[in-house]
Amino acid sequence: MKVLIVGGGGREHALAWKIRQSPLVSEILVAPGNAGTAKLARNVAIPTKDVKGLVELAKTERVDLVVVGPEDPLVAGLADELRAAKIDVFGPGAAGARLEGSKAYAKEFLEAHRIPTGFSKKFDRSGAAKAYLEGQKQWPQVIKADGLAAGKGVFIVSSAREGGVVIDQLMEEKKLGAAGARIVIEEFLSGEEISVLAITDGETILILEPVMDHKQAGDGDTGPNTGGMGVVSPHPAVSTRLMRQIEQHVFVPTLHGLRCEEVEFRGVIFAGLMLTESGPKVLEYNCRFGDPETQAVMRRMKSDLVPYLLAAARGKLNELEGPDWDRRACIGVVGAADGYPGDYRRGDPIEGLDSAETVDEVVVFHAGTREQGRQTVTDGGRVLCVTALGADADEARERAYAGYERVRWTGKFARRDIGLKRPIKTRTVR
Ligand code: AMP
Ligand code: GLY
Repeated sequence: MKVLIVGGGGREHALAWKIRQSPLVSEILVAPGNAGTAKLARNVAIPTKDVKGLVELAKTERVDLVVVGPEDPLVAGLADELRAAKIDVFGPGAAGARLEGSKAYAKEFLEAHRIPTGFSKKFDRSGAAKAYLEGQKQWPQVIKADGLAAGKGVFIVSSAREGGVVIDQLMEEKKLGAAGARIVIEEFLSGEEISVLAITDGETILILEPVMDHKQAGDGDTGPNTGGMGVVSPHPAVSTRLMRQIEQHVFVPTLHGLRCEEVEFRGVIFAGLMLTESGPKVLEYNCRFGDPETQAVMRRMKSDLVPYLLAAARGKLNELEGPDWDRRACIGVVGAADGYPGDYRRGDPIEGLDSAETVDEVVVFHAGTREQGRQTVTDGGRVLCVTALGADADEARERAYAGYERVRWTGKFARRDIGLKRPIKTRTVR
């Protein structure tokens, strides 16, 4: 069969790498892809925003399955249009993608279906939002732009004055455009974060191995928020009991809620959770595979991924058993371009990619890279993710950083503390 992967980041390279190993697949197209996907698939230069162009491509190429990586085309209805054209697609329609596309809707959904989450209020006028902050006694508070903001729409503020500046930037100066016209103000939750991804066809859920992401740019969780600077799987806080709790209190009611609201969801539900003193609480939903979470999950999944993608797309997930997992640890270190997550350098030649993969159990997934003649050059804020498996987190960490050291470009940086967190005790609540 022929598969089209939509997207051009590290997540899509990892998906292409995994799908390439399936005996069911004869050809892979990636739109637009990167220098990494170009080595295992055929890149087609159609941007992820171009919903019409992508549907046309799937039709003319007679693609059997489309796997959508990023959220923007899902929110824009790409999956609905593909389904209307009778093409199997892994990814929810626009109605399901609202769980990520609107934080206000996600909060309403969480509250309506009694899924644990932080207390929040939503505002569409700046005056009311500021007055609410003035009345708060607990600090910090979290201000979130309602719409998609590529990870740049969440602000943790320590005073009403600081919050007022953010509210003005979002709602008056429209710094994030329409995404900030509405905001959610949420209580600050403390604890460890965990990314839990589940494949679903709307009826059956298959929870994947949990992952710890590292959202902030600096060591020790300092500095600005990013899309994710590194991953560890399994998550150091995970236990069978915790996962059962997450399934029962988060995923089962989420699925039930979607069915109550008559939203058909075929793809990934990704819950970003905070493990608080009073149990796991949902920080956000994503309607897609995580990046860089997917890089670690794909390294650890031993079974063929394609039957799961197909079964979810066709509403037949109940016919499959869960996948087999590599029990070893996986660590992924993201190498970023100088300046990220702000304005960053582009076009710097990358050396040492082959040498990195000679380190035991290392696979390098490209993210912001492109081919320029015979050279691979940087072309994004997150440039690549060096993943490694190891008997334990220490071994995986040692290998991942050894691989990372071998790759060179001007202005590269990474966090140095990926994989240093050791088993974290969390309280489970019945
Ligand atoms: P979100 O896009 O909602 O996941 O937010 C991005 C990041 O902001 C999360 O991964 C957390 O690190 C942080 N964050 C979001 N909401 C909260 C909250 N209520 N309390 C503490 N941190 C939060
Ligand atoms: N790494 C977080 C995300 O994919 O949203």
